Amino acid sequence: MPPFITRGFHHVTLVGRDANRTLRFYRDLLGLPLVKQTVNFDLPGTYHLYFGQDGGAPGTIVTVFEWPNAQRGTFGIGGVHHHAFAVADQQQQLRWKRWLTDRGVAVSGPYDRGWFTSIYLKDPDGQVLEIATEGPGFDLDEPIDRLGQELMMPSPGRLIGNRDEAEIRAMTWPETVPCIDEAMRLRGLHHVTGFTDDLSAAGEFYERALGLRLVKRSVNQDDPATLHYFWANYDGTRVLPASDMTLFGWPKSARVAREGVGQTHHIAFRASDDEQLAAWREHLLDEGFDVSDIRDRNYFKSIYFSSPDGLLHEIATDPPGFAADETPDRLGTDLKLPPWLESRRPELVTGLRPLDLVV
Ligand SMILES: [Fe+2]
Ligand SMILES: [Fe+2]
Repeated sequence: MPPFITRGFHHVTLVGRDANRTLRFYRDLLGLPLVKQTVNFDLPGTYHLYFGQDGGAPGTIVTVFEWPNAQRGTFGIGGVHHHAFAVADQQQQLRWKRWLTDRGVAVSGPYDRGWFTSIYLKDPDGQVLEIATEGPGFDLDEPIDRLGQELMMPSPGRLIGNRDEAEIRAMTWPETVPCIDEAMRLRGLHHVTGFTDDLSAAGEFYERALGLRLVKRSVNQDDPATLHYFWANYDGTRVLPASDMTLFGWPKSARVAREGVGQTHHIAFRASDDEQLAAWREHLLDEGFDVSDIRDRNYFKSIYFSSPDGLLHEIATDPPGFAADETPDRLGTDLKLPPWLESRRPELVTGLRPLDLVV
C-alpha cells in the first residue's frame, strides 16, 4: 500500500479565451456556480475563474484561465481528452441532452459504456466534456475485490460500428426542460480521460505518486484496437467517487498535446491539509519526482509535478477553501486578490474586462 493516497480530484484547470463566454457556459448552461473571481497568480493581468458546487467543494471544481491571445491547444499524448461530470441517472442525463440541445449546444450519445452511460459536448473553447451516470459501476463485469486484474472486453453492442447511431442520436427527453433543477445537478468530476503512449509507465506514476489503483483494463469503445485503462482510489471494497483518472493508450504515437485554448492546463488531486502536503512533497522527492516548492494559492496550498507523458499534475489541500476571503453567500461576486497582489489592484483591474455577473 503506498503511504500517500489521494481521495480524488481537487479541481481541473482549463484554458479559455473569453472570461464572459466561459461564465455564461459553466454557470448558466452547466449550472456550476461561480465561487471565485480572481487573477492567475502566476500571470496576474488575466482572470482565473473558479466554478463548483457547495461553495467549491473539492472534486466539483472546474477552473478556467482566460488567455485572450493564446493559440488553440490540441489534444494528444500528455494531454486530456475530456472531463466527465457525474449525474444521478439516465433520465437526468436525457434531460441534460434536451436542455443543452434546446440552447444550441451539440450533444452526442447517450452511449452505453457498461460501467456508466455517457453524453458528450464541447465547451465554447472546444474542450470536450462528458456527463456520465454514477452507476452501475466498475463491478458490473468483475467482482468488486478483483477490479483491474484482467482485460475486460465490452459487450460487442457497445463498440463503434455495432451501435445504432441513428437511434442514439434521436434519444432525448420528450419535454422541454425549463431549468437545471436539483435532480439534474452535476455532482462533481466523474472521471478525467487523457492520453499516454505508455500505459504501464502511467500506471506506475498514478500508483507511486498519488496512490491510485488500476480498477479497469479495457479497450476504447470508440477505437477498439486501442486500450483504455482506469485508475481510482480503490481499497478492494469500493471505488471512491470523483477519483477516477483514465487514459487511452496510444503506443508510439507522435501526436503530442499542445498547451493552449480549449485544452486542460493541469489536473489537481486532494491532500487533506498543509501537514500532509508537506509530507507528500518529501515522499515525491524521495521517489525521484521533480516537484515544485509549496505554493500559496490563497484558497489552498499546492505542489506541482508532471507525469511521464508531460501532463502537469497538482496536489492541493482541502483547506482553507473559498470562504477564506469572502462570506459563503457572496462567493464569486467581487474580484478577489491575494494579499500580495492587493497593492496592484488598480493596475490589474484596468486590464480586465468586467464580468457580466447578472444571471
Ligand atoms: Fe469518459
Ligand atoms: Fe490548479
